[in-house]
Amino acid sequence: MAALDDLREEIKRLEHDMRERLAAVDDGASLDAFRADFTGRKGRVSQLFKRLGRLDPSERSEAGRLLNALKKRASEAVALAETETRRERLAKRLGDERVDMSLPGVYSSFGHLHPLTLVQREIESIFMRMGFSVATGPEIETEYYNFDALNIPVEHPARADWDTFYVDESTLLRPHTSPVQIRVMEETEPPVRIICPGRCYRRDTQDATHSPVFHQIELLWVEEGLSLANLKYVLEIFTHEFFGEGYEMLFSGDYFPFTEPSVQVHIKAPGAADWLEIMGAGMVDPAVLEAVGYDTETYTGFAFGLGIERMAMLKYGIDDIRVFLTNDLRFIRQF
Ligand code: PHE
Repeated sequence: MAALDDLREEIKRLEHDMRERLAAVDDGASLDAFRADFTGRKGRVSQLFKRLGRLDPSERSEAGRLLNALKKRASEAVALAETETRRERLAKRLGDERVDMSLPGVYSSFGHLHPLTLVQREIESIFMRMGFSVATGPEIETEYYNFDALNIPVEHPARADWDTFYVDESTLLRPHTSPVQIRVMEETEPPVRIICPGRCYRRDTQDATHSPVFHQIELLWVEEGLSLANLKYVLEIFTHEFFGEGYEMLFSGDYFPFTEPSVQVHIKAPGAADWLEIMGAGMVDPAVLEAVGYDTETYTGFAFGLGIERMAMLKYGIDDIRVFLTNDLRFIRQF
């Protein structure tokens, strides 16, 4: 009986020590030490289990029950201490890493697209929804694509209107996007339904409405049975989509060597007094279609060249074309 009583005493002492040590556990290291000393394989609880063998068989079951209960309480205590230290560690970390919400933030500015790019993309997406695809051509262009193939031979007076910055005898910075029409038609059998956005250059003196560098979007649709009425319809849908309700559209007669008839398209904002010319347009001259080998008995087409800056100016009420190129962030940031 004495051995069992001894064991009871031991258990009591162990539990007392355990409580004391546990109260002092305050971080991972002290918890590990506690585990090693008490619940580990060589810890004091295991040591007590070794005594079972030395007990009288009649005492063993009672001793086993006591030891198992001790073991259970010890591992519960460890689990609790684990949670506590984890919570304490977290609280400490949160304390150390506290974010001072009163500090001013670090300002970083995100760039965004230039208003001209935004307008160009919007126009592209309207025409893409109508079944047009986007084509591009070089900004440094040959006289052939820029003039000859567009029915503007060397001696033609219209050539002077577009005379621009020459790179050499027969190469120039394109003054319009119309040469892309030819490049595409040379490569494609009709029907052709394209728009060609791009930068253009002219010998214009810079003022509020002119710029030697500007952007156009060319449109070309060649198919069987197209007439000026189709052009008007396409433009009406486009104007409505781009500007919204209330804008009016007007066609007036014009002349381009590569279209016949040729028109100028004007737009008036709701309530505005003045019409603004936004594009030249017309039915593609059969001579142009013939030059790329299209059967002019079967196919007709129409085209236009629209100024992107002008569209942006109309849409946003901008009265000076120069703001697009001067990189004044006070202007750019408004878009
Ligand atoms: N290329 C002409 C210009 O820049 C515009 C235009 C394009 C006219 C297509 C008719 C057809 O002035």
